Amino acid sequence: MHHERIAILDFGSQYTHLITRRLRELGAFGLVYKSDVKPDEISGNDLKGIILSGGPNSVLDMAAPGMDTGLLDLGVPILGICYGMQLIARDSRGKICRAAKREYGKSTIEVTDKNSVLFKGMKAKQAVWMSHGDHVETVPDGYTVAAKTSDTLVAAMENRALKRFGIQFHPEVTHTQYGNKLLLNFLHLCEMSLNWNAGNFIKEKIEEIHKQIGPGGTVVLGLSGGVDSSVAALLLNKAIGNRLICVFVDTGLMRKDEMCHVQNAFAQFDLSVKWIDASERFLGELDGVTDPEQKRKIIGRTFIEVFEREAKATGAKFLGQGTLYPDVIESSGIGGAVLVKSHHNVGGLPERMNMKLVEPLRELFKDEVRRVGLILGLPEDLVWRHPFPGPGLAVRLPGAITRERVSLLQDADAIFIEELRKSGWYKLTSQAFAVLLPVQTVGIMGDERTYESMCALRAVQSEDFMTADWAHLPHELLERCAQRIVNEVKGINRVVFDITSKPPATIEYE
Ligand code: XMP
Repeated sequence: MHHERIAILDFGSQYTHLITRRLRELGAFGLVYKSDVKPDEISGNDLKGIILSGGPNSVLDMAAPGMDTGLLDLGVPILGICYGMQLIARDSRGKICRAAKREYGKSTIEVTDKNSVLFKGMKAKQAVWMSHGDHVETVPDGYTVAAKTSDTLVAAMENRALKRFGIQFHPEVTHTQYGNKLLLNFLHLCEMSLNWNAGNFIKEKIEEIHKQIGPGGTVVLGLSGGVDSSVAALLLNKAIGNRLICVFVDTGLMRKDEMCHVQNAFAQFDLSVKWIDASERFLGELDGVTDPEQKRKIIGRTFIEVFEREAKATGAKFLGQGTLYPDVIESSGIGGAVLVKSHHNVGGLPERMNMKLVEPLRELFKDEVRRVGLILGLPEDLVWRHPFPGPGLAVRLPGAITRERVSLLQDADAIFIEELRKSGWYKLTSQAFAVLLPVQTVGIMGDERTYESMCALRAVQSEDFMTADWAHLPHELLERCAQRIVNEVKGINRVVFDITSKPPATIEYE
């Protein structure tokens, strides 16, 4: 590990990962660890400071999570946020008061210590975001009260000699007026160089990949055309050249002309790719299947079989994956570096094939991956592409899957996406696509009666895809899409627009 690092101990706050985000925005690399992490699991020359997150528990409860006091001997500055502050106070014999009810929301604090290093360069009165039950009544020996609220609650405490700090409010939340400035002050106290950015990340990662793969090692990676696998491919390619072999599997359930599109996007790079057209096999396996779960299972299994055969043929000992930090967090429950198990994008393949995993993006958030992609020269339209589900168009084709239905859907979808791009709405939506419904309706075209398929357009805005709102697309745009689809896609005579949010609906249809 080359970059300097702040260890963030997660005590269960809903804001823990926001702390990581804020630090990175300030040029500091932060990684989240479980709260019971052992000192030797996080120590190292690169460790510059520790942040203790907030959490839902009370430090006064016997079962409340604590931290290994050996962390204090690591000699780096420590900032406790909310629960973290109370923990520092409790463990250093300060007095904690149990609250009758939780204080939640905006509050104002006043910096009472002019020599405060945490609040250096800030106005005395400032708006902050509080979310706590207990609070520190008396600060431990060696600490000064740095700030109070109007109710004279201890809002911040400092032990400047030991460089240990506590704040009752949440600096990582944008409602806290000087939150970034406070975190920056803490980073200065940690003597962080604040030079973490996508460019440096690439340099460091390349070195790390060299070390992991060794001089003769080869890597195989499933390239899907999505931003994650594309950026992972370019990064690995930059590190080990043609010792990276990509495998692109056309399942026959991809967007229109997808293989050509991806081939063009990567034409400028010296990337070794095996282009596999497995559409016959996938569509054959799916013949007559209408149950959504069964479709997913068939596609997952078939993908693994096809990919495994191609990957084995390369003789590679390493499997590259575009796993991102949120996947890592999700699969480990919490935390980043001390992982229980890895998230596998291609379910269980590494164990099955006895391969070692290479996941060069596992410390990055999506927007950081995009920045890395841009620096590596990935074409903008791939960088900003909406996510596309693993099972592909199958989850947008309720009912039986046939080549004809896939083709109708691809054509309608391509028109919708083209119009979204032209109107500037593609970037304003998080995901948008067409769905071919298993319904035929009557229509009239010219003087002729038609009895054809019906297509739904879905466009959503979402932060994390766990919840989503339907995108309020302009009526003129929707009208243009409907007209073009019905006129240009023979077999569709009706278009509807889906205005359901998630929940209660999901984003995809199956
Ligand atoms: P839902 O439909 O559950 O989708 O609201 C949420 C997000 O996940 C994507 N999605 C998938 N992605 N494999 C994937 O890689 C899948 O099986 C899968 N199913 C849904 C979906 O496109 C949306 O972005």
